[in-house]
Amino acid sequence: MSRRPCAVVTGASRGIGRAIAIGLAEAGYDIVANARSYNPDDLSRGLAETGERVMELGAAFHPAAADIADLTTHERLLRSAIDRFSGVDLLVNNAGIGTRVDFLETTPENLDRVVGVNLRGAFFLTQCFARHMVERAERGEAIRPAIVFITSISADTSSPTRAEYCVSKAGLSQLAQICAHRLAQHGVNVYEVRPGIIETDMTAPVKQRYDALIDEGVVPQRRWGTPRDVARAVAALARGDFEYSTGGVFEVSGGMNIKRL
Ligand SMILES: NC(=O)c1ccc[n+]([C@@H]2O[C@H](COP(=O)([O-])OP(=O)(O)OC[C@H]3O[C@@H](n4cnc5c(N)ncnc54)[C@H](OP(=O)(O)O)[C@@H]3O)[C@@H](O)[C@H]2O)c1
Repeated sequence: MSRRPCAVVTGASRGIGRAIAIGLAEAGYDIVANARSYNPDDLSRGLAETGERVMELGAAFHPAAADIADLTTHERLLRSAIDRFSGVDLLVNNAGIGTRVDFLETTPENLDRVVGVNLRGAFFLTQCFARHMVERAERGEAIRPAIVFITSISADTSSPTRAEYCVSKAGLSQLAQICAHRLAQHGVNVYEVRPGIIETDMTAPVKQRYDALIDEGVVPQRRWGTPRDVARAVAALARGDFEYSTGGVFEVSGGMNIKRL
């Protein structure tokens, strides 16, 4: 019997990450789901709820609590995935945090906190997992390894009240290009998925403002994006539908990428 592939999804306790974990379970992956904490006694929340949904689909599930900003957790996260599923086929760098502070008021602490999770954490987590994928490729193990970065339209869209977030996502976008370039020779494909305005906890504080912007036509497709919209794009990449497109940037934003007059 052939082994089911294993996907590690960071920030999978809710929102986009949870939808990605569920979408990948539907696509035939076993799931390692990460967030900062895991409470097995409350199946209606967090990673435990993600696990319930994943296992309903017949996939195996392993919760892995770790703060991605803490580089000392990375090797442990990788090791727990290898111990449970023997190897990692797909890493989805989804964990992320945002801020809402004007550029003129922001502090070094704000920048460090956001970059620490969104960029520095993802940078070294990816390095750790990429080494594992390269080793497997060199051992001739028959896998189709891949890495997906969930960045944002903020990678190239200015929001002066979210400068830290924007620069972290611009950096993450460049990291995706570098990883795609460096890892292509080892058969590891790397993709960037750029969500637009997606209805999650992250956007809940600005829901009314974004409702108004969407009504005014900021999003050509005239609706909020859903976590499922992003998950479907990731599942298509995971299935190998874009096998000849390493380094590809896939925007899931209802057309916000269109330059308009
Ligand atoms: N929503 C949008 O409109 C939108 C648009 C573009 C891009 N994105 C990006 O999509 C990704 C997911 O966003 P979302 O809207 O789903 O956000 P969300 O609802 O706030 O969820 C964020 C997830 O990241 C986890 N997380 C936060 N800090 C972490 C850390 N240090 N270590 C491990 N996990 C951590 C959270 O888990 P715990 O809190 O349980 O630890 C949670 O599972 C982010 O990278 C975000 O920047 C979102």
